[in-house]
Amino acid sequence: MLWVGTSWKMNGTLASARDYATRLGAALDAGAPAGVQPFIIPPATALATVHQILGADSPVLLGVQNAHWADAGAWTGEISVPQAADAGAQLVEIGHSERREFFAETDQTVNRKVAATLRHGLRPLLCVGEPAEVFAAGGSVAHVTAQVDAALQGIDDLGRVLIAYEPIWAIGEGGREARGEDIEAVFAALDAGYGDRVEAILYGGSVNQGNAAETLAVPGVTGLFVGRAAWQVDGYLELLRIATAAA
Ligand code: 13P
Repeated sequence: MLWVGTSWKMNGTLASARDYATRLGAALDAGAPAGVQPFIIPPATALATVHQILGADSPVLLGVQNAHWADAGAWTGEISVPQAADAGAQLVEIGHSERREFFAETDQTVNRKVAATLRHGLRPLLCVGEPAEVFAAGGSVAHVTAQVDAALQGIDDLGRVLIAYEPIWAIGEGGREARGEDIEAVFAALDAGYGDRVEAILYGGSVNQGNAAETLAVPGVTGLFVGRAAWQVDGYLELLRIATAAA
């Protein structure tokens, strides 16, 4: 099974979310594309709306872009895993590089959030990735495996865990598209260490309709985590088609 999903990051309105969800729901009316598990991670403000439009039986899983480790309490500005589940989330994205860089996310907070997500029966989507200078120095495998080891410390059952390897140098505007040879060593290491214990290991960072097939051909890659190229529903549907062909 290939997992193919998108985070909308901090983009869109309720109107654009409704439009995306309506068109996605109609396109996947007959069920998920063969061999592919789709997922969408809207902004938290749009989650319940997207959930309502897609319906509880939708093949599309939904997620949040972050959640706190505590179940409730005086944590102004945060949302908890139970609140995310209440609004329709089955996935919790944790540790995206933008959160690590700008919102003080650390390996320790990531570990607590992974544990909280599993405790409530949701799936953590653990994001890891190295900066450009680490890549240039040949340190990618050590950096990424250390992040994953720290994030999963003390967690025995990894069966519901998804890992997304997203090198920072590949993400977003100004990011460089990875070639297969750029990422194959990290995937070999993640596959060897975690491949048979986690649900899937995804690649993210400037994935688009032109490079998705090449990326999915890298040994150990069992999914794609996409930003910009899936922010229009037609772009996302094309990526699902590419993944079905690769599955
Ligand atoms: P882009 O696909 O826009 O580079 O973003 C990747 C990402 O960060 C997904 O969370």
